[in-house]
Amino acid sequence: MPMRDVRIAPSLLAADFGRLADEVTAIAKHADSLHLDIMDGHFVPNISFGMPVISALRAVTDMYFDCHLMTTNPDAYVPQLAEAGANLLTMHIEAVPDPTRAAKRVRDAGLEFGLVINPSTPFTGVAPFLELVDLLLIMSVEPGFGGQSFMEDVLPKVEAAREWVESNDLAVDIQIDGGITSETAPLARMAGANVFVAGTAIFGSHDPAEAINELRQAIEDK
Ligand code: DX5
Ligand code: ZN
Repeated sequence: MPMRDVRIAPSLLAADFGRLADEVTAIAKHADSLHLDIMDGHFVPNISFGMPVISALRAVTDMYFDCHLMTTNPDAYVPQLAEAGANLLTMHIEAVPDPTRAAKRVRDAGLEFGLVINPSTPFTGVAPFLELVDLLLIMSVEPGFGGQSFMEDVLPKVEAAREWVESNDLAVDIQIDGGITSETAPLARMAGANVFVAGTAIFGSHDPAEAINELRQAIEDK
């Protein structure tokens, strides 16, 4: 079964917010993209950061910015996120009433588009829309907070997504987010994920660059 390249996306949520530029600079050459969790306190019970932080970081790095929108009405922020320097916007299927319209808005702004599904949302809820996306993000924790434990019961959904992508010959990355460590990432890899988000396992480590290399090694050893 052909697989797209393994990619590691550190989640900024676990970084030291008092020294974000340094945190990002330290991992830039080791990571494949930067995962930015935008939370509005409505779609999830937490508030993180938004456009001003993204544009400030865009000034210090040319990393690929993968923005995971945990907001209600995510379509509303597309122009501002493009202006701030985002490259990919992922929107929760639970928050997007019209994925076709959302995809068009994102692409018209010159960005890549992805959809996200929560642990409790079945794969059938997103499958009909996979032709619209560059990436499908499968949550392996309830969204809203870092540092939670990986939910192994999402693995069959990763397998179903990989099977669908391959059998329909789609160029769609499968990203996994939540509780990813050197122990859990190989499970997600075997199920078919190829983009691995990790917050605590990377920025919670004393050496984030080395933690990325260890994670990549654990995945590639599988
Ligand atoms: C949770 C976020 C995650 C989070 C992952 O809602 O979507 O990206 O930062 O954190 P860890 O890797 O600590 O589970
Ligand atoms: Zn995320």
